[in-house]
Amino acid sequence: MEIFSRIVGTGRALPGNPVTNAELATRLAQSGVDTSDDWIRERTGISQRYIAADGVHTSDLAFEASGHALQSAGVSAKDIDLIILATSTPDMIFPSTACLLQKKLGASGGAAFDVQAVCSGFAYAMATADLFIKAGKAKTALVVGAEVFSGILDWSDRATCVLFGDGAGAVVLKADSTPGILGHRLHARGEFESILRTPGTVSHGKAVGHPFLTMDGQSVFKLAVQVLDSVAREVLADVGHQVSDIDWLIPHQANVRILSATAKRLGIEESKVVVTVDQHANTSAASVPLALDVAVRDGRIRSGQRLMLQGVGGGFTWGAVYLQF
Ligand code: ACO
Repeated sequence: MEIFSRIVGTGRALPGNPVTNAELATRLAQSGVDTSDDWIRERTGISQRYIAADGVHTSDLAFEASGHALQSAGVSAKDIDLIILATSTPDMIFPSTACLLQKKLGASGGAAFDVQAVCSGFAYAMATADLFIKAGKAKTALVVGAEVFSGILDWSDRATCVLFGDGAGAVVLKADSTPGILGHRLHARGEFESILRTPGTVSHGKAVGHPFLTMDGQSVFKLAVQVLDSVAREVLADVGHQVSDIDWLIPHQANVRILSATAKRLGIEESKVVVTVDQHANTSAASVPLALDVAVRDGRIRSGQRLMLQGVGGGFTWGAVYLQF
């Protein structure tokens, strides 16, 4: 009997209160950074984001989102035998944020590790968890995308600091004879590493390099639209499906113009694209599970529907996971 990984619960966490573009523009103006609600809205579609307070870490948001996912799945933390957490903003260099989450959940014993594929992290984590489940190495997996991106933003760089937000999303995957994840593809092209990066680290007790996000926005835009289209088509071809079989497209929430251009290239109606970038901004690895949870809980996504989840981001990385909900 074929084993599938099936989503049985979803959850999300967003820290504090939303910060509107106007509020952000007022705050930034105090340090001489000039931006506006109009510019941000027009270029990105973002109207607000959530920013974690000092002392709130990625594992805190992951814990809250995981709690909601476990509750909606009706699964106890004790049943989790695999935790994969996608983040580029871990609480510490080590241990992994997945291990810190495991401790908070009291879900001791199974494997727990982080994946680092920036905004493609959740797609990478889901595909990896699926391979564990299909191989019979795990039965109940918790897959999380969680970020406190505000901590790696250069708040004097208006071209990047207005684009991102903090948050977490989680899903519980169970081994099942009913589909389930139908297919996935992951890719990377390291030669494009410089178009989106945070080129710093900690060494000898000091931050070295430039530990703030830098981006060539136009190059990212062009590549993102191209690969989100191609990877969706690859996964559909793998499983013998058509674009018309997709009920909901849930791409990484970078920018509303990237989402629209992807939908257009794929030939899918915009009404089938789940959009949350307006509310959450770009939350990197958290953006896809956040959007998924929003559309599940508001009743748009229903059992049996087919979803295309897509990531794209630093590395340069990209990937897609196609599944029946
Ligand atoms: N407020 C006001 N003005 C701004 C701001 C701001 N926040 N940021 C930039 N500007 C100005 C620039 O200084 C420039 O002014 P100038 O013409 O006087 O020099 C002007 O706006 C245009 O700047 P560009 O960088 O050329 O703007 P562009 O139209 O390319 O839009 C953007 C920038 C939104 C980042 C766009 O390139 C884009 O959508 N890129 C996709 C990348 C993306 O979404 N990245 C998110 C992370 S990557 C990922 O998740 C995959």
